Amino acid sequence: MPKAVSFEPGGLATDELRVVLAAPALDESSLAHWHGVMSQPENMRATRSTDPLKKSLLIARRGLLRTFLGGLLGCAPRDVPLGVTAAGQPIVTGGLGISMAAAPPWIVMAAARNMQIGIDIATTDPLPDLAALCEHWLHPRERKFLATLSASQAAQAFYVLWTAREAYLKALGIGLIDDMTTIDASALLEAGVLASPVVDNRPGRHFWWYSLKTPGGLVATAAVSRSGVRVNMAIA
Ligand SMILES: CC(C)(COP(=O)(O)OP(=O)(O)OC[C@H]1O[C@@H](n2cnc3c(N)ncnc32)[C@H](O)[C@@H]1OP(=O)(O)O)[C@@H](O)C(=O)NCCC(=O)NCCS
Repeated sequence: MPKAVSFEPGGLATDELRVVLAAPALDESSLAHWHGVMSQPENMRATRSTDPLKKSLLIARRGLLRTFLGGLLGCAPRDVPLGVTAAGQPIVTGGLGISMAAAPPWIVMAAARNMQIGIDIATTDPLPDLAALCEHWLHPRERKFLATLSASQAAQAFYVLWTAREAYLKALGIGLIDDMTTIDASALLEAGVLASPVVDNRPGRHFWWYSLKTPGGLVATAAVSRSGVRVNMAIA
């Protein structure tokens, strides 16, 4: 863990969810720059990666996250007090909720003041066995909703439901759980719904989902521990 240093998030409103979507070029000079702002544990993690593409993506994710957070906290990317929990959740000191996800070539990053947040993104590639995926991962109400849709609409809807799950579980800081069918995001599929309460049958879970407006071929969802959040999204 980095030492506790307090930085005030500048320009971030109390009801704002700041989101940046980027498709970084993984050229040598950008990678060298991002590599230069990483902490020693982040460098060690990158060194352990033997797959060159995975390693480049890891470096880009860390470099971009540090640059994004440095802008909000008013410090150099290298000085961002960025750590990671044992379960893999990135965290910063000072009451800033952060999250990130990747769906190459895209990276999405989010931050909000004093909120638990999670974000996920997916490219809407064809799904060869949608029926089996639905059976394994979805809540009965979600499966019922998908059964009313055409095949292409159902595939798109599956990605909405999937990114909602991952975003929510990242907001909780836990990652995937054994039984994903306990989560019901079907309200997000209703026409015009851009935000909806998270439906999770376990007690004490008060979160909201926000569908993000992304370029075609992408689906992204955020989960946030409060309602009425203003999503401020930029495509870099
Ligand atoms: C969170 C999880 C669902 C994301 O998986 P994915 O679809 O492969 O990857 P995504 O692109 O959507 O997200 C990756 C990012 O999620 C974040 N993340 C990882 N684990 C997280 C967690 N437990 N809570 C919140 N966020 C998490 C990280 O920022 C990660 O990127 P980074 O490693 O570069 O910082 C998956 O990693 C998971 O279930 N992790 C928990 C499992 C665990 O306990 N691992 C322990 C080993 S670290």
